[in-house]
This record gives sequence, structure tokens and C-alpha cells, in this order.
Amino acid sequence: MEHYHQKMQSTIGDWKPLIGVSEKLLAGKEVANDEAPSSLLPLLKLMQLIMKITKESEWDWSNPAIQETFKGMAESHLYKMFAEATVGVVSSIIRTVEIGTLVEVGTGPGQVTERLCEEMRQHNIAVPIIISDKSPTISDVGEKLRKSFPQLTINDFVWDFKKDPPRELVEKLTKPVLLFERFCIPYGGYESIDKICPIADILIMVEDLNLTGKKEAYDVIMERIGAQFFVYAEAKKYLEKHFSFIHICDSKTIEAMNLPVTDFTLAIK
Ligand SMILES: C[S@@+](CC[C@H](N)C(=O)[O-])C[C@H]1O[C@@H](n2cnc3c(N)ncnc32)[C@H](O)[C@@H]1O
Repeated sequence: MEHYHQKMQSTIGDWKPLIGVSEKLLAGKEVANDEAPSSLLPLLKLMQLIMKITKESEWDWSNPAIQETFKGMAESHLYKMFAEATVGVVSSIIRTVEIGTLVEVGTGPGQVTERLCEEMRQHNIAVPIIISDKSPTISDVGEKLRKSFPQLTINDFVWDFKKDPPRELVEKLTKPVLLFERFCIPYGGYESIDKICPIADILIMVEDLNLTGKKEAYDVIMERIGAQFFVYAEAKKYLEKHFSFIHICDSKTIEAMNLPVTDFTLAIK
């Protein structure tokens, strides 16, 4: 988290221009790329894509064009920074305590997973991994990872986390289970926390959880693709049903940059 803190400060600096550009986009106006700091360009591009696609059709995660855009975003500096911190937190836990199974929900194209597998290979760790997504393309992601990391046990499942996990997935779990996810729970709503957490002994939740209660234009734009506005206080109520220890990992960064959200929540049974 210290590494993440240094990087956030040096890369993003001021995030507030995002409010102005998202307000313009929501009002249907054009926004030039240089209206946002270059580090925030991936977010601007995502919002532009959402405004364009949702005007013409339904948002469909399985749509190859959308998957491709997210893949591109995941390769951006901004998302890599989040991926690096996610992998850093997950891998420091699996190097410190014995974990039976690693589970990821909403894996998407699997960039975070791939980096984690790389990290595991470097440290000679072979905790079995289960990846999952509601999109059936998860089987291709699983296939690709198994090919790249033959020494690891990687299973993939289609799991819509608005529902209970598939029985076949649960049967593969060995306790303690470390479950992690990035940027997907708000697509399922708060109730999906109740579906995901029963199988997790430790949870790493990498999500924008709002701390101020104020909904901005970018939150409204994200709602267009089904990502609900998630408030930390409310999410915490759900997490408290399943975990006794809940911790905001990025408080130092939030304070230093005056951020309206926390991005790294750790919860332990
Ligand atoms: C923004 S992408 C994030 C992908 C990946 N976690 C990452 O950080 O690169 C959101 C992912 O959540 C998945 N998703 C959305 N709603 C879901 C649901 N109800 N159950 C399971 N996955 C879901 C989508 O299919 C998509 O792959």
C-alpha cells in the first residue's frame, strides 16, 4: 500500500478535473482528450464509450468490442497501478499465511489474474486458483492461463454473483479461502456481497466505495452500464454480516489526496 500511495500521488496528483469532464459528457457535450490529465485519460475514454454505446444499444459485457476496450483499459498505467496494488496485497497474504484456495470473482479478461500467476510463479507458490465471471468467455481466460502457467491449478466457472456460487465451485474449495475481486461487485448490487462472502475467509475488495455520500456525474455515467453507486457505509453493513474485521487499506492516500472513495477494503472472518 505504501508503494501504491507513492504512485497515486506522483501519477494522478489532482483527480478533480474528472468531475468537470464527466458533467460535460453527461450533458451530451464533446470533451477533448486534453481536458483531463493524461493519467486520467482511460477513465475519460471509458465514459465516452459508455455514453456512445448506451445511446445506441444495450451494454453487454460479452460484446467483443467492450471486452477489447476493457482489455485496453486494463493495460493503461492507471489500471496497472490498481492491478499492481491488488496483486501486491493478495500475494503478500498468500506468502504470509497458508491459504487453501484463491478465488476471483468478475475476472473479466484476467489481467489481474495473469499478473498474480506471474507473481506466484516467481515466489514458487502453488495455491489452487478459481476464476469466475458471469460471462461464458471465462473458459477462454481459464484456458489461456492454464497454458501460460502449467505448474498452477486453475479452474474456471461461470458464476453470476447475484446468485449463490455453483455447487461444483464450492466443492473445489479448501479452507481458508482468500477471495479477491476488482471493479465488479457494484454491477451486482449490495446484495451480491451476501452471495460472495459466505465462501470467503478473507476478502480483498478493490472497488470505489464512496465515503462522502455525494453522487457525481461520473457515478451517474457508470450507472448506465449497471455499476451501482456504492457507498462505503452501506457496503460495510453487508460486510459486517460475514466478517469480524473490516479495514480500509488506503486511508493514507485518501487523506493525502482528499479522495472521495476508498479503493482497497480488507475483510477477515
Ligand atoms: C470492469 S470489469 C472488471 C474485470 C476484472 N475484474 C478487472 O479488474 O480487470 C467487470 C467484470 O464484472 C463482470 N460481472 C458483472 N456483473 C457480474 C455478475 N453479476 N456476476 C459475475 N460477474 C459479473 C463482467 O462480466 C466483467 O468481466
